[in-house]
Amino acid sequence: MKPLKQHTIWGLRGSFILAATGSAVGLGNIWKFPYITGENGGGAFVLMYLLWIAVIGIPIMMAEILMGRRARANPIMATAELCETSGASKGWTVIGWMGALAGLVILSFYTVIAGWTLEYVQSALSGKFAGLTGETSQALFDGLLADNSKMLQWHTIFTLMTVTILALGVTRGLEASVRWMMPLLFVLLLILLGYAMVEGEFVTSLRFMFSFNIEDVSWESALTAMGHSFFTLSLGMGAIMAYGAYMPSTQSVGKTVMLVALLDTLVALVAGVAIFALVFATPGIAVGSGPGLMFVTLPVAFGNMSAGLVIGSVFFVMVMLAAWTSTISLLEPGVAYLNERFGLSRIGASVLLGVIAWLLGLGSVWSFNDWSDKQFLWGKSYFDSMDFIATNIMLPLGGMLIALFVGWKLRDEHLLHELKFESSLLLKVWRPILRYISPVAVLVILINGIFPVLRKVFVE
Ligand code: PFF
Repeated sequence: MKPLKQHTIWGLRGSFILAATGSAVGLGNIWKFPYITGENGGGAFVLMYLLWIAVIGIPIMMAEILMGRRARANPIMATAELCETSGASKGWTVIGWMGALAGLVILSFYTVIAGWTLEYVQSALSGKFAGLTGETSQALFDGLLADNSKMLQWHTIFTLMTVTILALGVTRGLEASVRWMMPLLFVLLLILLGYAMVEGEFVTSLRFMFSFNIEDVSWESALTAMGHSFFTLSLGMGAIMAYGAYMPSTQSVGKTVMLVALLDTLVALVAGVAIFALVFATPGIAVGSGPGLMFVTLPVAFGNMSAGLVIGSVFFVMVMLAAWTSTISLLEPGVAYLNERFGLSRIGASVLLGVIAWLLGLGSVWSFNDWSDKQFLWGKSYFDSMDFIATNIMLPLGGMLIALFVGWKLRDEHLLHELKFESSLLLKVWRPILRYISPVAVLVILINGIFPVLRKVFVE
């Protein structure tokens, strides 16, 4: 199965780094990381997270890029071709198929949450945060969740935004968009950080994020950190593999991956420090606010500080951009497949898959209102079921298979060809980690993720 056309390569230096960082930096960094750090004791959690980025994140990301770049094709055809050239069983192509499917499923609910950021940009700009209290902010958020047509509207708009970029193609869509969105995102983050340093409780926030309390270390927080390191780098579903197919052969895989992991981590840390600095500076709101930190607690802080209208808008535009550069990477594997395998136009492929993801997402919209008491898998709402299947099962399974495939199956000469720019130390440690440590670590994430469900099914 050879690609039908000469494969596109990103033309400008740094495009791969911007696109992969765009995929990695998303709701996981700005929405999830700060509150799970808050819930798991700050510094100790951050340290474990960094460890997992090094042990699982970096080696698996290198493996994904390498597969995409070696085969110069979308993840489905890339795995098929690599099986052929390395004499491995065709069964490994499940990596590509499951990845493309996971992308669709994740996109279907990711656009629902990303849609909330659009509503919050509008609310911030129109001054709706002014004078909010904990209760009125909660009421504002609950009002959005209960409003079926508004949720549907934002879900539709975010899906359309995603489809538009993909339909424009690799160079005019993906590459052109990340080249302005990512720098803008970094500028907005710096504005937020500057403001938090001047107006927020910056030192208290730093102490909260980085003070190390050994008693905060638990198995559970180690596992949460492990799972998050995986999700935040967009691993296990071929998004990075798809982007790797467009990466120039002369670029060092190791250095690039380290830079992407560093940028992703920096964004999470800076966003976390800035958010907590603002939250600590607002009297009367609790810090360990869980998932509501961004949509309930933070608007209270914005509504009660000077320049809150501007900073609140800056913040939600930033989150929207972060989510947008992630959603495009979720659909790229499928779009590239339909385009390269069947010659379907990028426009046709993006619209087709966009419609499927949009339809799948309807249940997630309704699970916050009309379907709020409906249960799907093991007592979970539709939204939670989709999140569970994709994030807790498909991504870690995909990541484990990728580590095993590249670690054990790919031919040495292919690997060496792709890694000719790497330092010999990196080459020495990378493959053993990929062979032995990453698969076991990811297996632990997988078992940990499905354990509560197994217990429910078999014990209760
Ligand atoms: N890395 C994204 C985040 O942290 O929000 C989520 C994500 C995007 C996961 C793309 C997987 C993916 F393929």
